[in-house]
Amino acid sequence: MSQTDTITLALSKGRIFKDTLPLLAHAGIVPIDDPETSRKLILDTNVPEIKLVIIRATDVPTYVEYGAADLGVAGKDVLMEHGAAGLYEPLDLKIANCRLMTAGLKGMKEPEGRLKVATKFVNSARRYFAEQGKQVEIIKLYGSMELAPIVGLADIIVDLVESGNTLKANGLVPLEHIADISSRLVVNKAAMKVKHERIQGFIDKIAEAVRLRDQ
Ligand code: PRP
Repeated sequence: MSQTDTITLALSKGRIFKDTLPLLAHAGIVPIDDPETSRKLILDTNVPEIKLVIIRATDVPTYVEYGAADLGVAGKDVLMEHGAAGLYEPLDLKIANCRLMTAGLKGMKEPEGRLKVATKFVNSARRYFAEQGKQVEIIKLYGSMELAPIVGLADIIVDLVESGNTLKANGLVPLEHIADISSRLVVNKAAMKVKHERIQGFIDKIAEAVRLRDQ
């Protein structure tokens, strides 16, 4: 897939894809197919040597780490969970901005024993509470974390908060701020060497697009 004359960029459908499109357009790259309607997993673009691979957000760092994609766009939440080995993270695209937070039921009392924490961000949560010197029990979930305190599965959750509406609608309040989250451009370390000129040119164009968008 990753021949030296081709550059592949791994993206997930939805918000990241939509918000990355204008940045790609600034670099003169326009996908030929729409991933929302096409079942194709490799999308051609108007630039024959640039391909987009459409995968699950959580798989982006894995594809890039193994060089199956040269570059990728991934949320900082996903990168924090995955770990940074094998990847460069040269650029904050400042899209899909939100916060990784703890949250609990309004008026909750700290339990006597170990705090039970439900989350899909197991590694980030473990690291955070270890830094706080707190012993907690982490309960791995795959979604709808807000439900866990309501039904007594956990005392608190670690989840992404954007507007805060999901917490509010479920009677929860944000508690501690763990990290600011946004999507980052990541690059395979070997590809950065072998295809340096091309990849650096691409990064520079995208960086310029971010600057122009935010000025
Ligand atoms: C995220 C997150 C919260 C919600 C927060 O879920 O897990 O549930 O968004 O947004 P808000 O603060 O604006 O209400 P998402 O919709 O990304 O789906 P997910 O449950 O698959 O992560």
